[in-house]
Amino acid sequence: MSVEIKSAKQIKKMQLAGKLAADVLDMIEPHVKVGVTTDELDKICHDYIVDVQQAIPAPLNYHGFPKSICTSVNHQVCHGIPNNKKLKSGDIINIDITVIKDGYHGDTSRMFKVGKATVKGDRICKISYDCLQIGIDVVKPGVDFSAIGQAIEVYANKQYCSVVREYCGHGIGQKFHAEPQVVHYADKNSGIIMEPGMTFTIEPMINLGKREIKQLPDKWTVITKDRSLSAQWEHTILVTDTGCEILTLSEN
Ligand code: MF3
Ligand code: CO
Ligand code: CO
Repeated sequence: MSVEIKSAKQIKKMQLAGKLAADVLDMIEPHVKVGVTTDELDKICHDYIVDVQQAIPAPLNYHGFPKSICTSVNHQVCHGIPNNKKLKSGDIINIDITVIKDGYHGDTSRMFKVGKATVKGDRICKISYDCLQIGIDVVKPGVDFSAIGQAIEVYANKQYCSVVREYCGHGIGQKFHAEPQVVHYADKNSGIIMEPGMTFTIEPMINLGKREIKQLPDKWTVITKDRSLSAQWEHTILVTDTGCEILTLSEN
């Protein structure tokens, strides 16, 4: 069990892959509107990644995933498959983008609000955003990876929200999902200590109701068992000598 330490050359490649993934989210934002289908968003992202960025959409055919992006709407927690259903006013949607550029992965997701936001939709989008930032804030050399989930779950529970346990952040580089597993809940020490040059994601899935989830028969889409709203934000992070660098920041 070991976590790869990236060389300066590898870090340059991770910075580019991360930037491209964030650029896709910046690009797609104005398209996330009432009446658009998630299939249409998938096609726009696919074409942008392939034709403009000359990169590869990592989800496509990943363990059989059929599309180029993940779109998770309302009570969908993650890994939603784009389809021909139109978005409606009040929906919240997570769009999760992973690109491969020059062999390296950049992975990031954001929430988007469609039309007129609901109070609950607003609330879970904001709390999950804050959870990601709180997780990032603890990242620096010498810290056990479990500190991330510890900080996130304490905050989420204070807000009467719950943290999904079945899906985690992950090491990332030439592999999409590598060591370590980055849990978003309070757990015992992992024994894995952050070191400069490690790259990984933080991507807490936060539910307005209970933490339990189930998978749909499509074998991908994960939903909350109680059908409560769920939201998630994700960044790819590099541990630096003094703290961390977010590799998937928006240009805006
Ligand atoms: N991007 C997701 C993550 O954050 C993984 C999606 S895997 C897929 O780890 F196959 F569903 F695309
Ligand atoms: Co990820
Ligand atoms: Co992702």
